[in-house]
Amino acid sequence: MKILVTGGAGFIGANFVRMVLDEHKDVSLVNLDKLTYAGNLENLTGYLDRPNHTFVKGDICDVDLVKKLLDEHSIDRIVNFAAESHVDRSIISHAEFVRTNVEGTLSLLQAARDRNIERFLQVSTDEVYGSLGPQGQFTENSVIEPNSPYSASKASADHFVRAFGHTFGLRYNITRCSNNYGPYQFPEKMIPLMIHNAMHDKPLPVYGDGLNVRDWLYVYDHCTAIWAVLTKSRPGEVYNIGGCNEKTNLDVVSLILDQLKKPKSLISFVKDRPGHDRRYAIDASKTMNQLGWKPSITFEQGIVRTIQWYCDNRDWLANVASGDYKHYYEMMYSRR
Ligand code: NAD
Ligand code: DAU
Repeated sequence: MKILVTGGAGFIGANFVRMVLDEHKDVSLVNLDKLTYAGNLENLTGYLDRPNHTFVKGDICDVDLVKKLLDEHSIDRIVNFAAESHVDRSIISHAEFVRTNVEGTLSLLQAARDRNIERFLQVSTDEVYGSLGPQGQFTENSVIEPNSPYSASKASADHFVRAFGHTFGLRYNITRCSNNYGPYQFPEKMIPLMIHNAMHDKPLPVYGDGLNVRDWLYVYDHCTAIWAVLTKSRPGEVYNIGGCNEKTNLDVVSLILDQLKKPKSLISFVKDRPGHDRRYAIDASKTMNQLGWKPSITFEQGIVRTIQWYCDNRDWLANVASGDYKHYYEMMYSRR
């Protein structure tokens, strides 16, 4: 099996590359990543010189480059992780979200269309379904109702993937996963940001009343689900992925403070995110029943493991939290 992975130097992509190279020795990977602020070759330390791993710095919007990689490496599967992935950034400026998430996906589809690609797997998100009230879960048949510029761009990409399946017979799958956490997550996202701040005795900025709910999944379990979809599913199907771990943000932040033995007085309620989705919850029974996948790590295990990872990898954290990140943090939080 020869897979083109895009965005494989980012958080989930790098965890996927590591998992595949560790657990599936007969697979070759070509890893195409633009190395934006979120892409980091340190996420692939120890894996860059593996003989079955080729890293290419480049843009998924470059259709000629993608075609060249598909031909030169006889690629039979594509897994598209590459994206602008942070909701807060999409509220401030939108163009890069349309470029990478929509046009970039379209470029990959165009390159894949005329080649005999066994499977095109689009890594999407539960955010395309919008927000839930206190009850219920998103199923694969839920209405697509994206609320943020980020989720609107991801939903648009999903529609293009489906349309290429319908119009050109492209064999595709779309996965829609809930919130991931774990090693190598950039500290703009809630869990690593709160761990980082708590480690440095800085205030933990909780948006609004802190009662928004997210359904957390340890990143390794997202990766095994993607592998199951890539290798066991029927083409043309959408699969929800989630771990049934609904938590309020306040609960997660309190747990982080307890684990790091820091006081609750570090919690600072700040102005809410505009259009903030209230609750996500995923019904992943189709993925579990059809593909035999299930999460292997509970939230209680995963969060302890994650906090420990950040404590053990202070250099990684210091490197990513320097330079541009400081400007981003200042711009986003100083007057909030
Ligand atoms: P991330 O921001 O950590 O990584 C994105 C990667 O894509 C980076 O390495 C970046 O350099 C690369 N990239 C960006 N633009 C590119 C371009 N034009 N060409 C090539 N590479 C480019 O994101 P993540 O959290 O790892 O998310 C990966 C995917 O999973 C995204 O598609 C996201 O929508 C989806 N997703 C994320 C979560 C989550 O909780 N993080 C949950 C569900 C789905
Ligand atoms: O559900 C899947 C999605 O999860 C992915 O598609 C996105 O790529 C990923 O970023 C994530 O989106 P969220 O907006 O849910 O994640 P984030 O970590 O930014 O925020 C989680 C919750 O924490 C959300 O309710 C907002 C809140 N929050 C976030 C930050 C960064 C805070 O209260 N304070 C913060 O500083």
